[in-house]
Amino acid sequence: MGPTTDAGEPESARSRLRDGIDFFGNFLRNPGSIGAVVPSSRYLARALVGRLELQPGELVVEYGPGTGPVTSAIRASLPPGARYLGIELDTRFHDLLTSRYPDLDFHLGSAADIVAVLAQRELPRPLRIISGLPFASLPPAVQDGVADGIVHCLHGTAGDFRTFQYVHAYGLRAARRFRDLMSERFASFERIGPVVRNVPPAFVLRYWGAR
Ligand SMILES: C[S@@+](CC[C@H](N)C(=O)[O-])C[C@H]1O[C@@H](n2cnc3c(N)ncnc32)[C@H](O)[C@@H]1O
Repeated sequence: MGPTTDAGEPESARSRLRDGIDFFGNFLRNPGSIGAVVPSSRYLARALVGRLELQPGELVVEYGPGTGPVTSAIRASLPPGARYLGIELDTRFHDLLTSRYPDLDFHLGSAADIVAVLAQRELPRPLRIISGLPFASLPPAVQDGVADGIVHCLHGTAGDFRTFQYVHAYGLRAARRFRDLMSERFASFERIGPVVRNVPPAFVLRYWGAR
């Protein structure tokens, strides 16, 4: 692993290239659960994270941090005293994240198990859930489990759920299915973008307010 900046971002073009190669290798091993060929750009990461507006003790959870481009943006915006938990299914990515961001907490497992993971770690319900999960390629049962977990965490709070979907895959049945699941459960929805400085371009989606 290459050296990192204070914000935990890979410092050099060489580190970013190595992340890209690792990411592509993982995509070839598990195309469905990785769901992208390269990590997100810093532009998409910033659009996704925006302002966190957390108080001390409040929690932000990241689903599917991968090699960490969104993690870096969250870390740079994390107010003092706020907490972070990343949930990553892939062992290689989990190993990379724990050594790249030693000050952050990462769980190896599925985002669909958020309720049990929070209980196990004695963490409060998060106020922000920021997801890099590839919903367009996740099976319906996983989508349902993830959606139920998001509802459990966010209903009755002032929190929100943020994710992105690639423009070229936006109309796919699985991508639409996930948006339908979320629209049935959340009263408010916002779509930002597309963010074109990303390969491929992507929309940022935000859901909040219980239905
Ligand atoms: C499209 S990549 C996004 C990676 C990173 N957030 C980015 O934007 O570059 C999807 C990530 O979700 C992870 N993932 C897939 N299914 C998951 C699940 N059920 N729970 C947690 N992580 C999962 C993959 O291992 C991968 O790291």
